[in-house]
Amino acid sequence: MTQIQIKSISKLINVFSPKIGLGDVASVLKVLMSNQISGTSPIVNKFEEQIAKKFDRKHGIAVSNGSVALDLAFQSLDLKEGDEVILPSFTIISCLSAVVRTGATPVFCDINKTSWNMTLKDVEKMKTENTKAILMVHLYGLTAEAQKIEKYCEKNGIFLIEDAAEAHGQKESLKFCGSFGLISTMSFYANKHITTGEGGMVLTDDDDLKDKIKKMRNLDFDNKKRFYHDNLYWNYRLGGMQAALGISQLKKLDKTISQKIKQAEIYDQYLSKEKTLSIPLKNINNTNNHYWVYGVVLNKDGIRDKVMKELYDSGIETRPFFGPLHLQGSLPKKFRNDIELVNTEHISKNGLYLPLGKHLKIRDQKFVTETLLTILKNNN
Ligand SMILES: Cc1ncc(COP(=O)(O)O)c(C=O)c1O
Repeated sequence: MTQIQIKSISKLINVFSPKIGLGDVASVLKVLMSNQISGTSPIVNKFEEQIAKKFDRKHGIAVSNGSVALDLAFQSLDLKEGDEVILPSFTIISCLSAVVRTGATPVFCDINKTSWNMTLKDVEKMKTENTKAILMVHLYGLTAEAQKIEKYCEKNGIFLIEDAAEAHGQKESLKFCGSFGLISTMSFYANKHITTGEGGMVLTDDDDLKDKIKKMRNLDFDNKKRFYHDNLYWNYRLGGMQAALGISQLKKLDKTISQKIKQAEIYDQYLSKEKTLSIPLKNINNTNNHYWVYGVVLNKDGIRDKVMKELYDSGIETRPFFGPLHLQGSLPKKFRNDIELVNTEHISKNGLYLPLGKHLKIRDQKFVTETLLTILKNNN
């Protein structure tokens, strides 16, 4: 068995680290000094306008995170019991929660084995006469077949909600993710290309939906008579300091992406010939990978968690891929069935992602890959 040199845990190579610079600090300080700290400050509108403009949408509505952005998107559709929403099983739990909270039925589709994202074919298989909405999610740096799915929804009178939480600056068929369908959502959590620490955005071109979602975000406050409310809504506002951080982060988006692409090329060099794992595709669906994360899928079943533990013991933090939604303990019994989603289950079980971001040096990437290859050799 090949020996691995153990790094001390104080030198743990983190899977990600937010990239905060002096420009970010200055932007937040300026807002603090001008007292624009609440969610109703002009700086929040500025952030909304800039995000909407960048991603080719008419309106942006800033919210406290990407999960509530999904909630507001779905709550605004007025779905009812018996309506069906198709969504990929391979995604974050927030997608399932948002659908289930409307009372509609989640219908899970599979994903493509190599892009790790949903295709039109996956969606078509699950459509019934009750399909009212599709939740299209872009994961791990690549995309769903966005243009095809958008056209399909238009043709069939189905609402399309796009989750672009992980796809800031990504394009499919030359169109920005965040601009497909009726409503798009984004997350600005600490590990995203644009981060506000915690934060999110709802994007739409529809004026009426924009007004409705703004009220939903703000306790139905935007009525004529103050403190009289027609609806029981939420406070999902984003604060001024976070908006200021988002504005300065947005300026660095292109640089952030090009740095990650360069790092992915280095991982590719070290890992592309390895037979025991699959590396991410460079491009598919008219999309070039922008490597929100660098994921790998191990070819041998059942060793992923052991490999991750051994990497951690060697000073390398990784993350497993999302667990399938159709197998979650939290999925209400009435929505369970025996569906088998082969690609989702294989990729979920065997996928993990490696450290990526500005905190990494080339020598760290070399150490990560050498350690991973040694561990794989010992486990295959
Ligand atoms: C695809 C996707 N959707 C939604 C979310 C939820 O965003 P948040 O963590 O801001 O609630 C995430 C979070 O990482 C995500 O990856």
